Amino acid sequence: MTSEIKIGIVTVSDRASAGIYADEGGPAIHDYLLKALTSPWTPVSRVIPDVRKGIAETLIELADREGCCLIVTTGGTGPAPRDVTPEATEDVVEKPLPGFGELMRQVSLAKVPTAILSRQTAGIRGRSLIVNLPGRPRAIAECLDAVMPAIPYCIDLIE
Ligand code: MTE
Repeated sequence: MTSEIKIGIVTVSDRASAGIYADEGGPAIHDYLLKALTSPWTPVSRVIPDVRKGIAETLIELADREGCCLIVTTGGTGPAPRDVTPEATEDVVEKPLPGFGELMRQVSLAKVPTAILSRQTAGIRGRSLIVNLPGRPRAIAECLDAVMPAIPYCIDLIE
């Protein structure tokens, strides 16, 4: 990875985007990646509400205009009516990578039975890998631990 590397960090939450509570998910992803990645990179962070069209537009902006090689989302993966992050991701990816969601649910289920409620997915748009994580800050490290080994390899394959 070079110093040109940009990584999108997208927190999807009605309440965090409205300032009702502080975003914990975005900083948790940032901290995780700071420890996990050895090469320099620049975060491009967004905190947005649970709106399918707005999420899709943000993913397109970060992939196509910002040129992020990796975009990680947190939140909006559950079964509630406003949880639409996986749908927005499916709207914009050209190649779904269902294995990411399958593996994250598998490892998360060993910790919490409610992990079955997370519909998180992943996929490729152009030269960007988009990965959904659940909203709970503690889920972020649990899920990234599982999929991190495949991420640099996947980015190499699509660049
Ligand atoms: N995965 C892990 N690893 N740890 C968790 O605490 N919470 C679950 C699930 N996956 C959880 C998890 C719960 S309770 C829900 S509702 C879903 O993720 C969706 O969360 P989200 O809508 O905030 O993304």
